[in-house]
Amino acid sequence: MVQTTDLKALTIKTARIAITTGKWMRAQQVNFSQDSVEVKAHNSLVSYVDQQAEKQIIEGLLELLPEAAILGEEGGAQASDSPYKWIIDPLDGTTNFIHGLPNFAVSIALEHAGSLLLGVVYEVALDECFYAWKSGGAYLNGKRIYCTPITDLQVSLLATGFPYANFDKMEAYMNIFKDYMAQTRGLRRLGSAATDLAYVACGRFDGFFEYGLAPWDVAAGALLVQEAGGKVSDFAGADNYVYGQEIVASSSGIFDGLMKPIQKHWPEKS
Ligand code: 2AM
Ligand code: CA
Repeated sequence: MVQTTDLKALTIKTARIAITTGKWMRAQQVNFSQDSVEVKAHNSLVSYVDQQAEKQIIEGLLELLPEAAILGEEGGAQASDSPYKWIIDPLDGTTNFIHGLPNFAVSIALEHAGSLLLGVVYEVALDECFYAWKSGGAYLNGKRIYCTPITDLQVSLLATGFPYANFDKMEAYMNIFKDYMAQTRGLRRLGSAATDLAYVACGRFDGFFEYGLAPWDVAAGALLVQEAGGKVSDFAGADNYVYGQEIVASSSGIFDGLMKPIQKHWPEKS
């Protein structure tokens, strides 16, 4: 088991890997050609940038913990009996990247026996590295960060991601969206769930909700929010937010208020 003192060092080393790869991706975006884009599935895009970035990250992580299992969005996988598992999204916000927009991030988390040990989100355009380790707090470029102290949903700014592939629950999503439009200061859609969660952790957003997400989109950001004093759950109010494809994360003071429209409109799982 990695000791708490080592966990901080491991987090910083992981952050360095994320930063190196993030800077490389930024350089690739300058002369990026649309001819490099491949379609994985409906609205799911990928290019050599995602794939090479994941390779670079895995090479670096294997030096840190050679025995750990690996789950990467671009297929980087290593099965292992080890209780450690890296969960990697080399490029969160691929659609933004391809369209020349600045909001994209590297997201790396480490799980131990199902619980999140560390998380790093490197937001490339602003050179902002968010990181947290279990019971160690959350940080942005070395400075401790916290979720906002608000208790009134009416003064909150929320983030979300629109449905892009699974439209089965779109009506329920839209009803939740309508309630929040009336009950908050507004909603934003950046296009990178990892960045949305990092921004909840540092108080730029007060809350975030989205469905249809994968573990690599949310694992690192979820720990950031928790270590910044916020709350995270799935849409049922339970703990299956890494693998359950639904996440709500917010400052603690508005969490119950944020859950109400979800409880009202979201269909029960059959
Ligand atoms: P990705 O860029 O790594 O795929 C935003 O809604 C979140 O959903 C992002 O974290 C994004 O991660 C993920 N996502 C996957 N496919 C998407 C798509 N076609 N459009 C928007 N977001 C997508
Ligand atoms: Ca991705």
